[in-house]
Amino acid sequence: MTDYVTVTDDAPLARTGAIKLHDEAGFEGMRRAGRLAAEVLDMVVPHVVPGVETQALDEMIRNYIVRAGGVPATLGYRGYTHSSCISINHVVCHGIPSNRTLKDGDIVNIDVTPILDGWHGDSSRMYIVGNANVKARRLVDVTYECLMIGIEHAKPGNHLGDIGHAIQRHAEQYRYGVVRDFCGHGLGRLFHDAPEVVHAGRPGTGPELKPGMFFTIEPMINIGRADVKILDDGWTAVTRDRSLSAQFEHSIGITEDGCEIFTTSPKGFDKPPYA
Ligand code: MF3
Ligand code: CO
Ligand code: CO
Repeated sequence: MTDYVTVTDDAPLARTGAIKLHDEAGFEGMRRAGRLAAEVLDMVVPHVVPGVETQALDEMIRNYIVRAGGVPATLGYRGYTHSSCISINHVVCHGIPSNRTLKDGDIVNIDVTPILDGWHGDSSRMYIVGNANVKARRLVDVTYECLMIGIEHAKPGNHLGDIGHAIQRHAEQYRYGVVRDFCGHGLGRLFHDAPEVVHAGRPGTGPELKPGMFFTIEPMINIGRADVKILDDGWTAVTRDRSLSAQFEHSIGITEDGCEIFTTSPKGFDKPPYA
């Protein structure tokens, strides 16, 4: 059984396991936080070039968020000490910014979660450094399609399994692997809340979608097998077969007749190429 609870703007932060249904004030808060996340991902576009250290990008991201009156949710989150996750090539997610430099042909995911006035805007996009080969570009394109096809199924009366099924179907058409070890998640005043949003599954299964639900969809798609392992740093997730991996993430809210995407790019930079 799925529990739902109607919350108001000043709702308690408790992670009760129930799915929160938010009001218009919640939508307003998420619009602002989501827009800031999208602006951050727009801001870095001209800086994602060969030779840049990923920690330099992370510093720009922190400064941008703080100057906008926000706080990076990942800073100090379960011991994580950076303002973004930057995941290169076969890194699936949770890549730690470092002195590693980007090189021509890399495909890179940058994931940011600013908190603004208590609301979390969580989004990630892929960036192509210089020129990538056609296999890498196709993975990036198909992964973006997976996200948007998932979002098309995000409407009242559908179930979370409809979203996962649509994503899985599209990815497997290309014989890509859909990562099972990480999911999308409810969010709002909390960073990671119920429900878990799986990116593969069967139609009609899982919680029913209701107006006021806020959650992310963030499919991780591998050219090879779906299997993942975590490196010794405790964070970096990589493909076991070292095949390339891509991910896009939006934060959305279910409306009466569909959904609202909170993290759309103001500059139209939703997917590469951004030039
Ligand atoms: N932003 C990631 C997500 O989409 C979570 C990153 S948590 C961190 O849920 F600690 F690794 F940064
Ligand atoms: Co997320
Ligand atoms: Co994220």
